[in-house]
Amino acid sequence: MPDLLDQFATSLEGEVLVRHFEQYFRDYPDLHMKDMTLGAVGPDRKVNLNGRWVVNFGSDSFLGLDQDPRLKEAIRRGLERWGTHNGTSRAFSSVASCVEAERKLAAWLKVESTLIYPSVTLTNAGVLPALVTRHDAIVADQQAHHSVHEGLKLAHAGGAKTGVFAHDDPNDLERVLKALRPYRQAIVAVDGIFNMSGTLPPLAELRAVAEANDAILYVDDAHGTGILGEQGRGTVLDALGDYRNTLVVGSLSKGLSCFGGFVACPERLRLALKIRSGPLIFGGPVPPPYLDAVCAVIDILDSPEYPILRGRLSANMRQFLDGLRPLGLHVLGGVGAIVSVVVGDELATLRAGRELFDRGYFVQSIIFPAVPHHSGVLRVQINANHRPESIVGLVAAFAYLAANGCLLRIGNVKATAS
Ligand SMILES: Cc1ncc(COP(=O)(O)O)c(C=O)c1O
Repeated sequence: MPDLLDQFATSLEGEVLVRHFEQYFRDYPDLHMKDMTLGAVGPDRKVNLNGRWVVNFGSDSFLGLDQDPRLKEAIRRGLERWGTHNGTSRAFSSVASCVEAERKLAAWLKVESTLIYPSVTLTNAGVLPALVTRHDAIVADQQAHHSVHEGLKLAHAGGAKTGVFAHDDPNDLERVLKALRPYRQAIVAVDGIFNMSGTLPPLAELRAVAEANDAILYVDDAHGTGILGEQGRGTVLDALGDYRNTLVVGSLSKGLSCFGGFVACPERLRLALKIRSGPLIFGGPVPPPYLDAVCAVIDILDSPEYPILRGRLSANMRQFLDGLRPLGLHVLGGVGAIVSVVVGDELATLRAGRELFDRGYFVQSIIFPAVPHHSGVLRVQINANHRPESIVGLVAAFAYLAANGCLLRIGNVKATAS
């Protein structure tokens, strides 16, 4: 009997992406800085990674609320109230804290209703295919998040037409929608803040093209939830001023520092999604204590404390961008909490990330396939609870890299991740 599991492993080892990464792991074991172990978390965003204390500039907990005593206490209370798990899919029941969290989320965002999933990945996998049938179409920005594209694949398997348009390009969106005709109605899916570059899409132009072509806008605002707009209500209200013909997906795990994802939508759509959305019906829910934490965090976001908290993030972002400016680097983003410094070449990106780490700062080195070939970036995630001296140190480390020719300068741009 052949060992078929062994045969599968051998086949996968020959697959191009696995070969690509295994080569990095083999040839540059000290450079790639992936798959590390987080040993401990200290104050002021210090973490112990692979046995070394560094300042973490790779955290999505942008407002620093993961360390907030009120959220920790809400989780403790939730644990006492519900235990670790509610033991059933939401098709049968939802804990009262989930009902309350969805109601509070809707009130905060000023939408009719929300539906919570265990992650944004599962929200995209659950909502996109559930919204369409074989009469409909979905198109996505080429650089939309991986999970949006996975949602398109599921929709395609269900019979919907699908397509991809060039990044941030309303003209190409028009071309792709027209090519997919005839359809009954369509969805145009984009990120609210592109996760690798920190840049924003031209939402108003995209919505105009969508509406002219019987399509709604679907915005995965994972990185904008709690970060952009009045009281952190996100990219869509900030850029468009309303939710007309627009669905918003948000994260509970990043700016909000809890756990999960959600879609904000009219009540009638919510009811249809509860019937049609596979991950919600056949999968488990967010662990109940985290739903108590979601209720607690929305109270903070919807209070006068929010502008103070957000102000700390803005001040840190300003300090970092002001520090980078004289270096003449090619910098993307900076509107929300993500700034990407373009390096380009894959190996140079890994080397630069390693140098920052050795100087005491963890910044994610992002290379293909997360960004296009030769468009590597150092993705810096600024948090409200970074200390000013840590930002001074990080800027000095970037200055060292720039002085040693390790980073792309403006005017010397061959490729970008935007
Ligand atoms: C735009 C976007 N969507 C989805 C996700 C995945 O979110 P989750 O970890 O909740 O599945 C991310 C993660 O960074 C993201 O940036």
